[in-house]
Amino acid sequence: MLNVNVIIIEPAAPADLTSLLELLHQSRLPLDGFSDHLATALVARDGQAIVGSAALELYGRSALLRSVAVAESRRGRGLGHQLTQAALALARQRGASHVYLLTETAAGFFPRFGFQPIDRAHVPAAVQQSLEFTTACPSTALAMVLSIINRE
Ligand SMILES: CC(C)(COP(=O)(O)OP(=O)(O)OC[C@H]1O[C@@H](n2cnc3c(N)ncnc32)[C@H](O)[C@@H]1OP(=O)(O)O)[C@@H](O)C(=O)NCCC(=O)NCCS
Repeated sequence: MLNVNVIIIEPAAPADLTSLLELLHQSRLPLDGFSDHLATALVARDGQAIVGSAALELYGRSALLRSVAVAESRRGRGLGHQLTQAALALARQRGASHVYLLTETAAGFFPRFGFQPIDRAHVPAAVQQSLEFTTACPSTALAMVLSIINRE
């Protein structure tokens, strides 16, 4: 019998919350405030299993990309890339002009999408007031920005 695993990236459902929090925990990413933004979270599914995530927090025309995670056993196969691209497409769809993120562990991953480091002081106030900025990520985490205006 041919066994083909197809990974689907789609909006998260409320029933996914527990598995998503477990994935974030396993990936050593902050859980704070994640459930408040489930409506703009994406999951990667392999059958019943949740194998990846990416989420946006929306603040007017600014989006905060967070919780980009791939289950350890599935890393290095392009899933992190696909999840990030899907989240950027969602940000565009939701009218964002700029996407921000904070990272301690993946500063080398995001430049391939066009993200560049930015001084925290230049991040819009609304984004700076998010839990990621105020409590979840240490002050040493790197802030990055991507302009998605007129970007396909
Ligand atoms: C970062 C992460 C999402 C990447 O997922 P992935 O499915 O392995 O990524 P892809 O297969 O799409 O891309 C692999 C490429 O990214 C690079 N990469 C993966 N993780 C990286 C990291 N933490 N830092 C820098 N580069 C990284 C790989 O070296 C590889 O590079 P190559 O294409 O030049 O060979 C995954 O490693 C992860 O979940 N990490 C833990 C959580 C985390 O740090 N998330 C980001 C902070 S929000």
